[in-house]
Amino acid sequence: MQHFSPEELKDKVSTPMFQLIGQVADELGMECYVIGGYVRDLLMNRPSKDIDVVVKGSGIAIAEAVKARIGHGAHLSVFRNFGTAQLKWKGQEVEFVGARRESYTHDSRKPIVEDGTLEDDQNRRDFTINALAICLNHDRLGELVDPFGGVMDIEDGIIATPLDPDITFSDDPLRMMRCVRFATTLHFQIEEETFEALGRNRERLKIVSAERIIVELNKIMMSDQPSRGFVELQRSGLLELILPEVAALDVVETKNGRSHKNNFYHTLEVLDNVARLSDNLYLRWAALLHDIGKPLCKRWEPLVGWTFHNHNYLGAKLIPPLFRRLKLPLDERMKYVKKLVDLHMRPIAIADDIVTDSAVRRLLFEAGNDIDDLMTLCEADITSRNETKKRNFLNNFKLVRIKLKDIEEKDRIRNFQPPVDGEEIMHLFGLTPCREVGVLKTELKDGILDGKIPNEHDPALAFVIQRAKELFQLEVKETPAS
Ligand code: CTP
Repeated sequence: MQHFSPEELKDKVSTPMFQLIGQVADELGMECYVIGGYVRDLLMNRPSKDIDVVVKGSGIAIAEAVKARIGHGAHLSVFRNFGTAQLKWKGQEVEFVGARRESYTHDSRKPIVEDGTLEDDQNRRDFTINALAICLNHDRLGELVDPFGGVMDIEDGIIATPLDPDITFSDDPLRMMRCVRFATTLHFQIEEETFEALGRNRERLKIVSAERIIVELNKIMMSDQPSRGFVELQRSGLLELILPEVAALDVVETKNGRSHKNNFYHTLEVLDNVARLSDNLYLRWAALLHDIGKPLCKRWEPLVGWTFHNHNYLGAKLIPPLFRRLKLPLDERMKYVKKLVDLHMRPIAIADDIVTDSAVRRLLFEAGNDIDDLMTLCEADITSRNETKKRNFLNNFKLVRIKLKDIEEKDRIRNFQPPVDGEEIMHLFGLTPCREVGVLKTELKDGILDGKIPNEHDPALAFVIQRAKELFQLEVKETPAS
Protein backbone atom coordinates (compact mmCIF):
# COMPACT_ATOMS: atom_id res chain seq x y z
CA MET A 1 0.00 0.00 0.00
CA GLN A 2 1.14 3.53 -0.72
CA HIS A 3 1.81 5.52 2.45
CA PHE A 4 0.42 9.01 2.30
CA SER A 5 1.43 11.68 4.78
CA PRO A 6 -1.37 14.01 6.01
CA GLU A 7 0.00 16.63 3.58
CA GLU A 8 -0.16 14.21 0.67
CA LEU A 9 -3.70 13.21 1.56
CA LYS A 10 -4.60 16.87 1.66
CA ASP A 11 -3.14 17.23 -1.82
CA LYS A 12 -5.14 14.22 -3.04
CA VAL A 13 -8.42 15.84 -2.00
CA SER A 14 -7.53 19.27 -3.30
CA THR A 15 -9.13 18.71 -6.69
CA PRO A 16 -11.54 21.43 -7.91
CA MET A 17 -14.49 19.14 -7.21
CA PHE A 18 -13.52 18.40 -3.59
CA GLN A 19 -12.54 22.00 -2.94
CA LEU A 20 -15.90 23.21 -4.11
CA ILE A 21 -17.78 20.62 -2.04
CA GLY A 22 -15.69 21.51 1.05
CA GLN A 23 -16.34 25.22 0.56
CA VAL A 24 -20.10 24.76 0.19
CA ALA A 25 -20.14 22.47 3.25
CA ASP A 26 -18.31 25.16 5.28
CA GLU A 27 -20.84 27.76 4.18
CA LEU A 28 -23.73 25.52 5.20
CA GLY A 29 -21.96 24.70 8.47
CA MET A 30 -21.93 20.96 7.72
CA GLU A 31 -19.27 18.39 8.52
CA CYS A 32 -18.41 16.77 5.20
CA TYR A 33 -16.38 13.69 4.22
CA VAL A 34 -15.50 11.61 1.20
CA ILE A 35 -16.05 8.03 2.31
CA GLY A 36 -16.10 4.33 1.37
CA GLY A 37 -14.75 2.73 -1.79
CA TYR A 38 -13.28 5.96 -3.14
CA VAL A 39 -11.04 6.38 -0.09
CA ARG A 40 -10.05 2.70 -0.12
CA ASP A 41 -9.04 2.89 -3.79
CA LEU A 42 -7.22 6.18 -3.27
CA LEU A 43 -5.11 4.70 -0.46
CA MET A 44 -4.44 1.59 -2.52
CA ASN A 45 -3.52 3.64 -5.56
CA ARG A 46 -6.20 1.90 -7.58
CA PRO A 47 -8.26 3.68 -10.20
CA SER A 48 -11.24 5.06 -8.33
CA LYS A 49 -14.73 5.28 -9.67
CA ASP A 50 -17.67 7.10 -8.16
CA ILE A 51 -17.28 9.42 -5.22
CA ASP A 52 -19.43 9.05 -2.10
CA VAL A 53 -19.78 12.13 0.08
CA VAL A 54 -21.39 12.00 3.50
CA VAL A 55 -22.41 15.08 5.46
CA LYS A 56 -23.78 15.69 8.90
CA GLY A 57 -27.12 17.08 7.74
CA SER A 58 -29.00 16.88 4.46
CA GLY A 59 -27.19 15.28 1.52
CA ILE A 60 -29.75 16.74 -0.86
CA ALA A 61 -29.29 20.29 0.46
CA ILE A 62 -25.52 20.28 -0.08
CA ALA A 63 -25.88 18.65 -3.51
CA GLU A 64 -28.33 21.37 -4.57
CA ALA A 65 -26.00 24.09 -3.29
CA VAL A 66 -23.02 22.60 -5.15
CA LYS A 67 -25.08 22.32 -8.32
CA ALA A 68 -26.22 25.96 -7.98
CA ARG A 69 -22.57 27.03 -7.64
CA ILE A 70 -21.47 25.17 -10.78
CA GLY A 71 -24.53 26.16 -12.83
CA HIS A 72 -24.87 24.66 -16.29
CA GLY A 73 -22.60 21.77 -17.12
CA ALA A 74 -23.51 19.85 -13.97
CA HIS A 75 -26.44 17.48 -13.81
CA LEU A 76 -28.23 16.74 -10.57
CA SER A 77 -30.61 13.85 -9.82
CA VAL A 78 -32.39 13.92 -6.48
CA PHE A 79 -33.81 10.79 -4.86
CA ARG A 80 -36.00 12.16 -2.07
CA ASN A 81 -37.18 8.71 -0.95
CA PHE A 82 -33.60 7.74 -0.18
CA GLY A 83 -32.45 11.18 0.96
CA THR A 84 -29.63 11.09 -1.62
CA ALA A 85 -28.61 13.14 -4.63
CA GLN A 86 -26.26 12.40 -7.46
CA LEU A 87 -24.25 15.05 -9.23
CA LYS A 88 -22.53 14.49 -12.56
CA TRP A 89 -19.87 16.96 -13.51
CA LYS A 90 -16.91 16.70 -15.88
CA GLY A 91 -17.13 12.92 -16.18
CA GLN A 92 -17.28 12.42 -12.41
CA GLU A 93 -20.22 11.14 -10.39
CA VAL A 94 -20.68 12.23 -6.81
CA GLU A 95 -23.31 10.74 -4.55
CA PHE A 96 -24.32 12.91 -1.56
CA VAL A 97 -25.97 11.48 1.51
CA GLY A 98 -26.62 12.56 5.09
CA ALA A 99 -24.78 10.56 7.76
CA ARG A 100 -27.14 7.84 8.91
CA ARG A 101 -27.81 5.19 11.44
CA GLU A 102 -29.40 2.04 10.22
CA SER A 103 -31.27 -0.79 11.82
CA TYR A 104 -32.50 -3.86 10.05
CA THR A 105 -35.43 -6.22 10.41
CA HIS A 106 -34.92 -9.94 10.01
CA ASP A 107 -36.63 -10.53 6.69
CA SER A 108 -35.43 -7.70 4.54
CA ARG A 109 -32.29 -6.04 3.23
CA LYS A 110 -34.07 -2.68 3.55
CA PRO A 111 -32.98 -0.88 6.71
CA ILE A 112 -34.86 1.56 8.92
CA VAL A 113 -32.84 4.74 8.53
CA GLU A 114 -32.37 7.66 10.95
CA ASP A 115 -30.07 10.68 10.91
CA GLY A 116 -26.77 10.02 12.62
CA THR A 117 -23.18 11.03 13.16
CA LEU A 118 -20.16 10.17 11.02
CA GLU A 119 -19.42 7.44 13.54
CA ASP A 120 -22.91 5.94 13.11
CA ASP A 121 -22.38 6.05 9.39
CA GLN A 122 -19.04 4.28 9.59
CA ASN A 123 -20.48 1.66 11.95
CA ARG A 124 -23.09 0.63 9.41
CA ARG A 125 -20.55 -0.06 6.66
CA ASP A 126 -19.51 -3.48 5.50
CA PHE A 127 -15.74 -3.73 5.95
CA THR A 128 -13.05 -1.83 7.80
CA ILE A 129 -11.38 -0.97 4.49
CA ASN A 130 -14.69 0.50 3.25
CA ALA A 131 -15.36 2.55 6.37
CA LEU A 132 -12.55 5.08 5.89
CA ALA A 133 -13.44 8.75 5.56
CA ILE A 134 -11.43 11.86 4.64
CA CYS A 135 -12.65 15.25 5.81
CA LEU A 136 -13.33 17.91 3.16
CA ASN A 137 -13.99 20.90 5.46
CA HIS A 138 -11.35 23.57 5.11
CA ASP A 139 -9.78 23.46 8.55
CA ARG A 140 -9.58 19.65 8.62
CA LEU A 141 -8.99 19.07 4.90
CA GLY A 142 -7.35 15.70 4.26
CA GLU A 143 -7.85 14.39 7.81
CA LEU A 144 -8.35 10.63 7.74
CA VAL A 145 -11.01 9.19 10.05
CA ASP A 146 -10.29 5.50 10.54
CA PRO A 147 -12.05 4.16 13.64
CA PHE A 148 -11.66 0.46 12.83
CA GLY A 149 -8.06 0.18 11.66
CA GLY A 150 -8.99 0.08 7.97
CA VAL A 151 -5.59 1.40 6.94
CA MET A 152 -3.88 -1.38 8.87
CA ASP A 153 -6.14 -3.93 7.22
CA ILE A 154 -5.24 -2.56 3.79
CA GLU A 155 -1.56 -2.90 4.72
CA ASP A 156 -2.05 -6.45 6.00
CA GLY A 157 -4.41 -7.46 3.20
CA ILE A 158 -7.33 -8.29 5.50
CA ILE A 159 -11.08 -8.21 4.94
CA ALA A 160 -12.86 -7.78 8.27
CA THR A 161 -16.16 -6.28 9.34
CA PRO A 162 -16.10 -3.17 11.57
CA LEU A 163 -18.61 -4.59 14.05
CA ASP A 164 -19.58 -8.13 15.02
CA PRO A 165 -19.61 -9.92 11.64
CA ASP A 166 -22.81 -11.78 12.54
CA ILE A 167 -24.57 -8.41 12.76
CA THR A 168 -22.96 -6.96 9.64
CA PHE A 169 -23.82 -10.03 7.54
CA SER A 170 -27.21 -10.68 8.99
CA ASP A 171 -28.17 -7.01 8.46
CA ASP A 172 -27.29 -7.20 4.80
CA PRO A 173 -26.41 -10.70 3.58
CA LEU A 174 -25.24 -9.41 0.20
CA ARG A 175 -22.15 -8.41 2.14
CA MET A 176 -21.16 -12.06 2.35
CA MET A 177 -20.77 -12.07 -1.41
CA ARG A 178 -19.00 -8.71 -1.29
CA CYS A 179 -16.64 -10.13 1.32
CA VAL A 180 -15.55 -12.94 -0.97
CA ARG A 181 -15.48 -10.60 -3.96
CA PHE A 182 -13.15 -8.09 -2.26
CA ALA A 183 -10.91 -10.90 -0.98
CA THR A 184 -10.68 -12.20 -4.55
CA THR A 185 -10.17 -8.99 -6.49
CA LEU A 186 -7.77 -7.46 -3.95
CA HIS A 187 -5.98 -10.74 -3.14
CA PHE A 188 -6.81 -10.23 0.55
CA GLN A 189 -7.42 -12.82 3.27
CA ILE A 190 -10.74 -12.98 5.07
CA GLU A 191 -10.15 -12.48 8.80
CA GLU A 192 -11.01 -15.60 10.83
CA GLU A 193 -14.03 -14.34 12.79
CA THR A 194 -15.43 -12.76 9.64
CA PHE A 195 -14.92 -15.99 7.73
CA GLU A 196 -16.66 -18.08 10.36
CA ALA A 197 -19.64 -15.72 10.28
CA LEU A 198 -19.98 -16.40 6.54
CA GLY A 199 -20.77 -20.01 7.33
CA ARG A 200 -23.08 -19.19 10.22
CA ASN A 201 -25.11 -16.67 8.23
CA ARG A 202 -25.10 -18.41 4.87
CA GLU A 203 -28.81 -19.21 4.94
CA ARG A 204 -29.49 -15.45 5.06
CA LEU A 205 -28.34 -15.27 1.46
CA LYS A 206 -31.83 -16.51 0.57
CA ILE A 207 -33.25 -13.00 1.05
CA VAL A 208 -30.84 -11.59 -1.54
CA SER A 209 -32.07 -11.40 -5.13
CA ALA A 210 -30.37 -13.51 -7.78
CA GLU A 211 -29.64 -10.32 -9.75
CA ARG A 212 -27.50 -8.92 -6.94
CA ILE A 213 -25.73 -12.19 -6.30
CA ILE A 214 -24.81 -12.52 -9.95
CA VAL A 215 -23.27 -9.04 -10.02
CA GLU A 216 -20.84 -10.11 -7.31
CA LEU A 217 -20.27 -13.53 -8.83
CA ASN A 218 -19.42 -11.95 -12.16
CA LYS A 219 -16.93 -9.65 -10.48
CA ILE A 220 -15.28 -12.72 -8.96
CA MET A 221 -15.34 -14.36 -12.39
CA MET A 222 -13.65 -11.35 -13.99
CA SER A 223 -10.84 -11.15 -11.43
CA ASP A 224 -7.35 -12.23 -12.41
CA GLN A 225 -7.56 -15.44 -10.35
CA PRO A 226 -11.22 -16.38 -9.88
CA SER A 227 -10.36 -19.66 -8.14
CA ARG A 228 -9.54 -17.67 -5.00
CA GLY A 229 -13.18 -16.65 -4.69
CA PHE A 230 -14.61 -20.06 -5.45
CA VAL A 231 -12.41 -21.71 -2.84
CA GLU A 232 -13.74 -19.28 -0.21
CA LEU A 233 -17.33 -19.71 -1.39
CA GLN A 234 -16.93 -23.46 -1.11
CA ARG A 235 -15.15 -23.42 2.27
CA SER A 236 -17.86 -21.20 3.74
CA GLY A 237 -20.74 -23.26 2.35
CA LEU A 238 -22.05 -20.36 0.25
CA LEU A 239 -21.33 -22.08 -3.04
CA GLU A 240 -23.71 -24.91 -2.25
CA LEU A 241 -26.52 -22.36 -2.05
CA ILE A 242 -25.60 -20.52 -5.22
CA LEU A 243 -24.11 -23.14 -7.49
CA PRO A 244 -24.75 -26.60 -6.03
CA GLU A 245 -23.77 -28.10 -9.40
CA VAL A 246 -20.23 -26.79 -8.97
CA ALA A 247 -20.05 -27.46 -5.22
CA ALA A 248 -20.95 -31.10 -5.93
CA LEU A 249 -17.73 -31.53 -7.92
CA ASP A 250 -15.73 -31.38 -4.69
CA VAL A 251 -15.46 -35.12 -4.02
CA VAL A 252 -12.89 -37.82 -4.49
CA GLU A 253 -14.08 -41.40 -4.48
CA THR A 254 -11.80 -44.39 -4.23
CA LYS A 255 -12.50 -47.94 -5.29
CA ASN A 256 -10.05 -50.82 -5.41
CA GLY A 257 -7.32 -48.34 -4.59
CA ARG A 258 -8.19 -46.12 -7.56
CA SER A 259 -9.37 -42.56 -7.01
CA HIS A 260 -10.78 -40.16 -9.55
CA LYS A 261 -9.55 -36.58 -9.51
CA ASN A 262 -11.27 -33.87 -7.51
CA ASN A 263 -13.23 -32.20 -10.27
CA PHE A 264 -13.85 -29.05 -8.25
CA TYR A 265 -10.16 -28.18 -8.00
CA HIS A 266 -9.62 -29.32 -11.57
CA THR A 267 -12.42 -26.96 -12.66
CA LEU A 268 -10.85 -24.08 -10.77
CA GLU A 269 -7.52 -24.72 -12.46
CA VAL A 270 -9.24 -24.67 -15.86
CA LEU A 271 -11.03 -21.44 -14.91
CA ASP A 272 -7.77 -19.76 -13.90
CA ASN A 273 -6.09 -21.00 -17.08
CA VAL A 274 -8.87 -19.47 -19.16
CA ALA A 275 -8.77 -16.25 -17.11
CA ARG A 276 -5.09 -15.90 -18.01
CA LEU A 277 -5.96 -16.14 -21.70
CA SER A 278 -9.27 -14.34 -22.09
CA ASP A 279 -11.43 -11.58 -20.63
CA ASN A 280 -14.56 -13.09 -22.14
CA LEU A 281 -16.90 -13.49 -19.16
CA TYR A 282 -18.94 -16.25 -20.78
CA LEU A 283 -15.90 -18.23 -21.83
CA ARG A 284 -15.01 -18.13 -18.13
CA TRP A 285 -18.52 -19.33 -17.28
CA ALA A 286 -18.07 -22.18 -19.74
CA ALA A 287 -14.83 -23.08 -17.95
CA LEU A 288 -16.55 -23.04 -14.54
CA LEU A 289 -19.41 -25.20 -15.77
CA HIS A 290 -17.67 -27.48 -18.26
CA ASP A 291 -17.70 -30.54 -15.98
CA ILE A 292 -20.97 -30.08 -14.07
CA GLY A 293 -22.38 -33.14 -15.80
CA LYS A 294 -19.77 -35.38 -14.15
CA PRO A 295 -21.53 -36.22 -10.86
CA LEU A 296 -24.58 -37.31 -12.86
CA CYS A 297 -22.79 -39.88 -14.95
CA LYS A 298 -19.95 -41.12 -12.77
CA ARG A 299 -19.58 -44.91 -13.08
CA TRP A 300 -17.16 -47.50 -11.86
CA GLU A 301 -16.37 -49.90 -14.68
CA PRO A 302 -14.34 -52.84 -13.41
CA LEU A 303 -12.11 -53.10 -16.45
CA VAL A 304 -11.62 -49.39 -17.00
CA GLY A 305 -11.95 -47.65 -13.63
CA TRP A 306 -13.87 -44.40 -13.11
CA THR A 307 -15.68 -43.07 -16.17
CA PHE A 308 -17.76 -39.98 -16.86
CA HIS A 309 -19.21 -40.87 -20.26
CA ASN A 310 -21.51 -38.26 -21.75
CA HIS A 311 -20.78 -35.71 -19.04
CA ASN A 312 -20.44 -33.00 -21.68
CA TYR A 313 -23.90 -33.74 -23.04
CA LEU A 314 -25.53 -33.93 -19.59
CA GLY A 315 -23.65 -30.82 -18.48
CA ALA A 316 -24.92 -28.87 -21.51
CA LYS A 317 -28.49 -29.83 -20.59
CA LEU A 318 -28.02 -28.30 -17.14
CA ILE A 319 -26.99 -24.90 -18.54
CA PRO A 320 -30.41 -23.40 -19.42
CA PRO A 321 -32.05 -24.09 -16.01
CA LEU A 322 -28.91 -22.92 -14.24
CA PHE A 323 -28.81 -19.67 -16.24
CA ARG A 324 -32.52 -19.13 -15.57
CA ARG A 325 -32.13 -19.68 -11.84
CA LEU A 326 -29.14 -17.36 -11.53
CA LYS A 327 -30.76 -14.71 -13.74
CA LEU A 328 -27.93 -14.97 -16.22
CA PRO A 329 -28.88 -13.93 -19.78
CA LEU A 330 -31.00 -16.47 -21.65
CA ASP A 331 -29.92 -15.29 -25.08
CA GLU A 332 -26.99 -16.06 -27.38
CA ARG A 333 -24.63 -15.97 -24.40
CA MET A 334 -26.42 -18.90 -22.79
CA LYS A 335 -26.39 -20.82 -26.07
CA TYR A 336 -22.67 -20.11 -26.38
CA VAL A 337 -21.91 -21.56 -22.94
CA LYS A 338 -24.13 -24.55 -23.64
CA LYS A 339 -22.39 -25.18 -26.93
CA LEU A 340 -18.91 -24.98 -25.42
CA VAL A 341 -19.85 -27.33 -22.57
CA ASP A 342 -21.35 -29.74 -25.08
CA LEU A 343 -18.34 -29.68 -27.39
CA HIS A 344 -15.54 -29.46 -24.86
CA MET A 345 -14.47 -33.09 -25.27
CA ARG A 346 -14.33 -33.00 -29.04
CA PRO A 347 -10.94 -31.41 -29.69
CA ILE A 348 -9.44 -33.69 -27.04
CA ALA A 349 -10.97 -36.73 -28.68
CA ILE A 350 -9.59 -35.60 -32.03
CA ALA A 351 -6.16 -34.79 -30.64
CA ASP A 352 -6.03 -38.17 -28.91
CA ASP A 353 -6.25 -39.99 -32.23
CA ILE A 354 -4.99 -39.51 -35.77
CA VAL A 355 -6.21 -36.04 -36.65
CA THR A 356 -8.39 -36.66 -39.71
CA ASP A 357 -9.70 -33.93 -42.01
CA SER A 358 -13.21 -35.21 -41.66
CA ALA A 359 -13.23 -34.98 -37.83
CA VAL A 360 -11.81 -31.46 -37.99
CA ARG A 361 -14.33 -30.40 -40.62
CA ARG A 362 -17.21 -31.64 -38.45
CA LEU A 363 -15.83 -29.86 -35.43
CA LEU A 364 -15.59 -26.62 -37.42
CA PHE A 365 -19.15 -27.08 -38.63
CA GLU A 366 -20.53 -27.53 -35.13
CA ALA A 367 -18.46 -24.89 -33.36
CA GLY A 368 -18.77 -22.25 -36.11
CA ASN A 369 -17.36 -18.91 -35.06
CA ASP A 370 -16.78 -20.15 -31.51
CA ILE A 371 -14.10 -22.57 -32.59
CA ASP A 372 -11.22 -20.44 -31.27
CA ASP A 373 -12.86 -20.11 -27.85
CA LEU A 374 -13.53 -23.84 -27.79
CA MET A 375 -9.85 -24.52 -28.50
CA THR A 376 -8.86 -22.10 -25.71
CA LEU A 377 -11.16 -23.92 -23.29
CA CYS A 378 -9.84 -27.32 -24.30
CA GLU A 379 -6.21 -26.35 -23.95
CA ALA A 380 -7.02 -24.88 -20.54
CA ASP A 381 -8.68 -28.20 -19.65
CA ILE A 382 -5.37 -30.07 -19.77
CA THR A 383 -4.34 -29.96 -16.15
CA SER A 384 -2.52 -33.30 -16.04
CA ARG A 385 0.50 -33.42 -13.72
CA ASN A 386 2.12 -35.87 -16.11
CA GLU A 387 4.33 -33.61 -18.17
CA THR A 388 4.77 -36.06 -21.06
CA LYS A 389 1.03 -36.59 -21.35
CA LYS A 390 0.44 -32.85 -21.20
CA ARG A 391 3.07 -32.14 -23.88
CA ASN A 392 1.60 -34.79 -26.19
CA PHE A 393 -1.86 -33.32 -25.89
CA LEU A 394 -0.66 -29.79 -26.48
CA ASN A 395 1.36 -30.89 -29.51
CA ASN A 396 -1.66 -32.65 -30.95
CA PHE A 397 -3.72 -29.55 -30.30
CA LYS A 398 -1.22 -27.58 -32.38
CA LEU A 399 -1.86 -30.08 -35.15
CA VAL A 400 -5.63 -29.67 -34.76
CA ARG A 401 -5.21 -25.89 -34.97
CA ILE A 402 -3.10 -26.16 -38.15
CA LYS A 403 -5.67 -28.50 -39.71
CA LEU A 404 -8.50 -26.19 -38.66
CA LYS A 405 -6.79 -23.35 -40.46
CA ASP A 406 -6.09 -25.38 -43.62
CA ILE A 407 -9.60 -26.76 -43.84
CA GLU A 408 -11.20 -23.43 -43.11
CA GLU A 409 -9.22 -21.84 -45.94
CA LYS A 410 -10.05 -24.66 -48.30
CA ASP A 411 -13.67 -25.45 -47.44
CA ARG A 412 -15.04 -22.40 -45.56
CA ILE A 413 -16.98 -24.61 -43.16
CA ARG A 414 -17.10 -22.19 -40.23
CA ASN A 415 -20.38 -20.60 -41.29
CA PHE A 416 -21.49 -23.50 -43.40
CA GLN A 417 -24.37 -22.88 -45.78
CA PRO A 418 -25.04 -25.85 -48.10
CA PRO A 419 -24.20 -24.92 -51.72
CA VAL A 420 -27.49 -26.55 -52.79
CA ASP A 421 -30.47 -25.79 -50.56
CA GLY A 422 -33.87 -27.40 -50.01
CA GLU A 423 -35.63 -25.03 -52.45
CA GLU A 424 -33.31 -26.03 -55.24
CA ILE A 425 -33.71 -29.73 -54.44
CA MET A 426 -37.52 -29.46 -54.57
CA HIS A 427 -37.42 -27.49 -57.81
CA LEU A 428 -35.02 -29.98 -59.37
CA PHE A 429 -37.17 -33.05 -58.74
CA GLY A 430 -40.57 -31.33 -58.75
CA LEU A 431 -41.12 -32.10 -55.07
CA THR A 432 -43.14 -30.39 -52.36
CA PRO A 433 -41.64 -30.38 -48.82
CA CYS A 434 -41.21 -34.03 -47.80
CA ARG A 435 -38.92 -36.45 -45.99
CA GLU A 436 -36.82 -37.09 -49.12
CA VAL A 437 -35.76 -33.44 -49.26
CA GLY A 438 -34.50 -33.63 -45.67
CA VAL A 439 -32.61 -36.86 -46.31
CA LEU A 440 -30.92 -35.42 -49.38
CA LYS A 441 -29.91 -32.28 -47.48
CA THR A 442 -28.33 -34.39 -44.73
CA GLU A 443 -26.59 -36.58 -47.30
CA LEU A 444 -25.15 -33.48 -48.91
CA LYS A 445 -23.98 -31.98 -45.62
CA ASP A 446 -22.35 -35.26 -44.59
CA GLY A 447 -20.76 -35.66 -48.01
CA ILE A 448 -19.13 -32.24 -47.69
CA LEU A 449 -18.11 -32.66 -44.05
CA ASP A 450 -16.65 -36.08 -44.77
CA GLY A 451 -14.68 -34.59 -47.66
CA LYS A 452 -16.34 -36.76 -50.33
CA ILE A 453 -17.21 -33.68 -52.36
CA PRO A 454 -15.94 -30.08 -52.28
CA ASN A 455 -18.05 -27.33 -50.74
CA GLU A 456 -19.05 -25.95 -54.18
CA HIS A 457 -22.32 -25.74 -56.10
CA ASP A 458 -21.77 -27.89 -59.20
CA PRO A 459 -20.14 -30.92 -57.57
CA ALA A 460 -22.77 -30.67 -54.80
CA LEU A 461 -25.57 -30.68 -57.35
CA ALA A 462 -24.13 -33.70 -59.17
CA PHE A 463 -23.87 -35.48 -55.81
CA VAL A 464 -27.50 -34.73 -54.92
CA ILE A 465 -28.73 -35.95 -58.32
CA GLN A 466 -26.77 -39.18 -57.94
CA ARG A 467 -27.96 -39.84 -54.35
CA ALA A 468 -31.58 -39.01 -55.26
CA LYS A 469 -31.46 -41.63 -57.96
CA GLU A 470 -29.78 -44.25 -55.74
CA LEU A 471 -31.96 -43.72 -52.70
CA PHE A 472 -35.36 -42.77 -54.12
CA GLN A 473 -35.15 -43.43 -57.87
CA LEU A 474 -35.82 -39.74 -58.43
CA GLU A 475 -35.09 -38.20 -61.82
CA VAL A 476 -34.41 -34.57 -62.61
CA LYS A 477 -37.57 -32.77 -63.75
CA GLU A 478 -36.24 -29.26 -64.24
CA THR A 479 -32.95 -28.24 -65.79
CA PRO A 480 -30.74 -27.36 -62.85
CA ALA A 481 -29.43 -23.82 -62.54
CA SER A 482 -25.64 -23.77 -62.61
N1 CTP B 1 -21.62 -0.58 1.47
C1 CTP B 1 -22.00 -1.38 2.54
N2 CTP B 1 -22.75 -2.51 2.32
C2 CTP B 1 -23.12 -2.84 1.06
C3 CTP B 1 -22.76 -2.04 -0.02
C4 CTP B 1 -22.00 -0.92 0.21
O1 CTP B 1 -21.66 -1.07 3.65
N3 CTP B 1 -23.86 -3.94 0.87
C5 CTP B 1 -20.85 0.66 1.72
C6 CTP B 1 -19.36 0.46 1.76
O2 CTP B 1 -18.83 1.39 2.67
C7 CTP B 1 -18.92 0.81 0.34
C8 CTP B 1 -19.86 1.94 0.00
O3 CTP B 1 -21.08 1.58 0.67
O4 CTP B 1 -17.57 1.22 0.28
C9 CTP B 1 -20.09 2.11 -1.49
O5 CTP B 1 -20.63 0.94 -2.04
P1 CTP B 1 -20.36 0.47 -3.53
O6 CTP B 1 -20.26 1.65 -4.41
O7 CTP B 1 -21.35 -0.59 -3.83
O8 CTP B 1 -18.98 -0.32 -3.44
P2 CTP B 1 -17.50 0.16 -3.39
O9 CTP B 1 -16.96 -0.15 -2.04
O10 CTP B 1 -17.37 1.55 -3.86
O11 CTP B 1 -16.77 -0.84 -4.34
P3 CTP B 1 -17.16 -1.31 -5.82
O12 CTP B 1 -17.41 -0.07 -6.59
O13 CTP B 1 -15.98 -2.10 -6.22
O14 CTP B 1 -18.39 -2.17 -5.64
